[in-house]
Amino acid sequence: MKLNVYAVPDSVSDKDLKDKIVVIIDVLRATSTILAALANGCKEVIPAVEIEEVINMSKNYEKDSFLLCGERNIDAIDGFHLSNSPLEYTADVVAGKTLLMTTTNGTRAIRKAADADEVLLCSMTNVEAVAEYIHNRQKDTVFICAGTDGQFSTDDVVTAGVVISRLAEMVDELELSDLAFVARKIYESSAGDLHGLLKNTLHYKRLIEFGLEKDIEYCLTLNAAPVVAVYKDGVVRTIDNILS
Ligand code: MLT
Repeated sequence: MKLNVYAVPDSVSDKDLKDKIVVIIDVLRATSTILAALANGCKEVIPAVEIEEVINMSKNYEKDSFLLCGERNIDAIDGFHLSNSPLEYTADVVAGKTLLMTTTNGTRAIRKAADADEVLLCSMTNVEAVAEYIHNRQKDTVFICAGTDGQFSTDDVVTAGVVISRLAEMVDELELSDLAFVARKIYESSAGDLHGLLKNTLHYKRLIEFGLEKDIEYCLTLNAAPVVAVYKDGVVRTIDNILS
C-alpha cells in the first residue's frame, strides 16, 4: 500500500487523487470541528469556499433546519450561528441539523477533493477510525494537509504521521513518500507530547493569542470524535449515516 502526503492543497493535481483514498486534514481546527459536529449528531456538513456561497445555499433550507458556521482568519463571521470552535458544536446545538460551513483553509482543502471518489476527513480526534478504514480498504492513500494560507502547517503533517504510524503497526508492506516518511518520524519522535511538539508552530501560537487554548486541547485529543466522515457529492456525512 502506497501512502503519500501533500503539505498544501495547491501541490495536488486531480491525477494524484485518481483511484486513491483521499484524506483531508485541518486539525486546527476545521476538520476537528466538523468531526465534533458529526459525532454529536448533526445530519451533514456542506463545506463552502466563500461566505456568499454559504448565504446563498441557506436559501434552499427550511428555517431551523440549518446553521451557518465557520470563521475568517480565526474570527467568527458576522451573522453566522457558530464560529469554528469545536466546543460550540454540542449535541443540543447541532443534532439533526445541516451545517453550512466555510473556513479560511479547511473547507477550501475539502473542496479540492470534490472530484475524487473516496474522500475522508481526518483530525487527531479520529485517527484510529481513519487508520482502520484505510487498513480495511487496503488501498493507496493520499493525505492532503490544509496548511495555513498556502503554507505548510506542522500540525496537519503530524496528524498524517499519527495515522501512518498506526498503519505501520497494522500493515506489513507500506510504501511511504518522503513527506509520509517525515510525517511518521516527526510524530514518533514526539513521544506522545503533541503540545510540546507543536507549541512553537504558527497556527498553534495564533490560536493561543486568540485565547483558544481549550480548542487546541480538544483538537489534539486522540480519538475524541471516533467517526469515519466521508465527503461525497458535496456533503460530509458519517459512514454510518450513508450506509443506513
Ligand atoms: C481554517 O480552515 O483555516 C482553520 O480551521 C482556521 C481556524 O479556525 O483555526
